[in-house]
Amino acid sequence: MNAAVELVVLFSVVSLGASQVPVPKLPPGHTYGNGSSSAPIQLDFFIDLQCSDTKEAFPTLLQVADYYGGKRLRLLFHFFPLPYHRNSYVLAQGAELIAAKNNEAVALAYMNAVFRVQDRFLNKPTENKSAIAIISDVAAVARTVGVNPSQFINELANYDSPLRTQWKYGCTRGVAQTPDFFINGIQIVQATPSWSLKDWKKIIDPLLTILD
Ligand SMILES: *[C@@H]1O[C@H](CO)[C@@H](O)[C@H](O)[C@H]1NC(C)=O
Ligand SMILES: *[C@@H]1O[C@H](CO)[C@@H](O)[C@H](O)[C@H]1NC(C)=O
Repeated sequence: MNAAVELVVLFSVVSLGASQVPVPKLPPGHTYGNGSSSAPIQLDFFIDLQCSDTKEAFPTLLQVADYYGGKRLRLLFHFFPLPYHRNSYVLAQGAELIAAKNNEAVALAYMNAVFRVQDRFLNKPTENKSAIAIISDVAAVARTVGVNPSQFINELANYDSPLRTQWKYGCTRGVAQTPDFFINGIQIVQATPSWSLKDWKKIIDPLLTILD
């Protein structure tokens, strides 16, 4: 090998090493309700709790999951906190913590509670708040779903959540906005936050014909 070739080989080895995204310890995502891992429709829903478009799409996606039932469709939430939403990461950390310490149903109740008061967590109204003050506001929301707020604050400070890995996973899927939707691994580019159950049925019903 001449020096130039060696350099190229060295660089590819180094860059391969540097580009390894952490492998999640479990298949990523939070399952809604009774969604089955063997359901023929796996619907990945990438969300940001500070995002108004996510808030708009959220109830419809739950409606879609309820309509088909967990045997036919599994809805999976993936947090993808956008960097220009300053409170999104901590809001998602809260959901991860609650899912781990309580269960997915309480985490879902928390997400719904966050959406109800989402205006409080937007960038402008929180511009003068410290990170600590924001955590305390998040704990107040957690409290409304039965989580002990002071315990929540202590645990959040030391919580090594899977959120970083989840976010990186979203990057590997090509997620660049929220909400973002995938059915059986394929991005549904035409879907919008205002889509109704009827719009989703147009995509999903034809895929389910193999069961009939
Ligand atoms: C899961 O399924 C059981 C039995 O079919 C049902 O009683 C329960 O309400 C379901 N839970 C959710 C969260 O959908
Ligand atoms: C934040 O502080 C600045 C400077 O005091 C003030 O002009 C602004 O209105 C404050 N923002 C909020 C949302 O209270």
